Amino acid sequence: MDRPDLSRLFRLDGRVALVVGAGSGIGQAVALGLAAHGARVICADRDLAAAQTTVALAAASGGGELTAYEVDVLDAAALTRAVEDLGAVDILAVTPAVNVRKRLLDYTGEEFDRVVALNLRGAFDVMTAFGRGMAERGRGSIIGFSSIRSLTTEPGQGVYAMTKAGLVMLLRTLAAELGPQGVRVNAIAPGVIDTPLTAPIKNTPDWYAAYGAKSILGRWGRPEELAGAAVYLASDAASYVTGTVLFVDGGWTAVDGRFTPPS
Ligand SMILES: NC(=O)c1ccc[n+]([C@@H]2O[C@H](COP(=O)([O-])OP(=O)(O)OC[C@H]3O[C@@H](n4cnc5c(N)ncnc54)[C@H](O)[C@@H]3O)[C@@H](O)[C@H]2O)c1
Repeated sequence: MDRPDLSRLFRLDGRVALVVGAGSGIGQAVALGLAAHGARVICADRDLAAAQTTVALAAASGGGELTAYEVDVLDAAALTRAVEDLGAVDILAVTPAVNVRKRLLDYTGEEFDRVVALNLRGAFDVMTAFGRGMAERGRGSIIGFSSIRSLTTEPGQGVYAMTKAGLVMLLRTLAAELGPQGVRVNAIAPGVIDTPLTAPIKNTPDWYAAYGAKSILGRWGRPEELAGAAVYLASDAASYVTGTVLFVDGGWTAVDGRFTPPS
């Protein structure tokens, strides 16, 4: 058997990546990271101007070939159009999610439905829409974004946590169903990352500091710190990796206390 060129394990030249949610935060960093490693990246977002900003940023952060595309994953007709417009996609990363931070007894049915609709149904629709073509072509890598909240929760995180745990099982099942056709499916589970999604926490200094102190590394993560995990899972470096959850959380889920006992 030919030995692979290990120096090129992470290269993505010749592959097409679709990053949904590429207009902001982690999706933006993932799009730039995949492009910097050679993929042709379609930066999709419901906010086209934000996706275009990501394209414009590429020159300053590793370069590559990027284009912007408008799609709302909650719009079934738009997703069907996207499959027709975009053609063969080798790598799919999906980030859109929403969190309504409220105790369960205060949650309305509308809020529950809104969080589930984007975090689970939206992910399901986009992954199955593009997963079908990947399975037909016999190759592909799908990456979903779960969270530390798939494992650990706290008051006010219930519905979000539920969707992030559910997403893991969606991805594992997709991995089981598409694996025989050469499609790998994995989750990345970030810890606390400075993005617009977590801006309400940043605006509350005690909360922001408590979250920073909770992880082993004692700080928040930056969106760029998720790019490496996505490049890895997209690339041949992860050719034997499927159905897994890669935590990029500064050690948040490895420790259970907020107190270091005296030695
Ligand atoms: N930021 C964190 O601390 C953190 C922690 C754990 C997990 N995560 C997960 O990582 C992922 C990315 O989070 P982020 O902080 O980068 O979020 P973000 O809010 O910064 O970015 C989400 C992007 O998705 C787009 N989007 C929203 N709804 C859409 C729709 N219907 N169709 C298409 N695009 C849509 C938005 O326009 C935005 O560009 C999410 O799944 C989130 O749950 C984030």
